[in-house]
Amino acid sequence: MKVYPIVAKRVLAPTLKLMEVEAPEVARKAEAGQFVIVRIAENGERIPLTIADFDRQRGTITIIFQEVGYTTQQLGNLEVNDHLLDFTGPLGLPSEVEHYGHVVCVGGGVGIAPIYPITRALKEAGNEVTAIIGARTKELLILEEEMRRVSHRLLVATDDGSYGHKGFVTDLIKQVLEEGKQVDRLWAIGPMIMMRNVAEVTRPYAVKTIVSLNPIMVDGTGMCGACRVAVGGETKFACVDGPEFDGHQVDWDLAMRRLAMYREEERRALAFHQSGGGCACR
Ligand code: NAD
Ligand code: FES
Repeated sequence: MKVYPIVAKRVLAPTLKLMEVEAPEVARKAEAGQFVIVRIAENGERIPLTIADFDRQRGTITIIFQEVGYTTQQLGNLEVNDHLLDFTGPLGLPSEVEHYGHVVCVGGGVGIAPIYPITRALKEAGNEVTAIIGARTKELLILEEEMRRVSHRLLVATDDGSYGHKGFVTDLIKQVLEEGKQVDRLWAIGPMIMMRNVAEVTRPYAVKTIVSLNPIMVDGTGMCGACRVAVGGETKFACVDGPEFDGHQVDWDLAMRRLAMYREEERRALAFHQSGGGCACR
């Protein structure tokens, strides 16, 4: 049976981990904007994770994840030389990387990880790139140097003001839009509320705004319907029609309602395992 060894691991912040996984077939085909589905053990939950980086020569994929529930905590406990049972991908459509002119790439919190390869690809395509990254506090700000390298200008915000601008990434987007220089396209990845608010900020300026939706996913192949979203009045499946969509067309109320659907189950599963329970995933 094929397994996927972890070849590098870094703790970026107390609950934020980076892992480089050997998966040559995935690395050969991966493009910015795509994702993988990871499974640690038989009967285990399938975790969709946007690709944070890929190295075709070494045959590796980098994932960055936040330990938010039982399964992501289990993943975070794995070490170099441990193996993942499944590493399916690359899934989803790649980002539409073209020469647009001046583009703005926005990453909030863990969303900085998936915006990184997109920013790099847009710079390589000849765009002038302004990057904006934000986190709750300085300790949670990831990939600052990497983002600086793949952009022409980097702006930073922290909610508590411990580093850079005090406030949300949306403040810095407004600042860039008000400078008067044309923005030809904007990408934003982060928590859903952030992406929703980014889309509201750019709407009056008519700047095309691409967001990456991360609804609940099961099979990742368009069969189960778990990742259903509504975009421009049409039903779409984020796993095959996305994950990137026009933020001005997304039905955010529906997307946020569906994302919250399993929050209580997730909380109960985590509490069950923390209290010493066995595997309740069936
Ligand atoms: P967070 O709550 O720390 O927020 C990160 C940044 O987003 C903040 O610093 C702020 O600049 C901005 N932000 C937050 N709330 C905002 C608001 N109301 N208005 C404007 N801007 C706001 O984020 P986190 O804890 O790192 O993020 C976790 C979430 O991100 C999870 O829900 C995860 O699923 C999601 N995520 C999504 C993707 C994706 O592909 N869409 C990838 C990684 C993570
Ligand atoms: Fe099943 Fe998208 S995850 S249809």
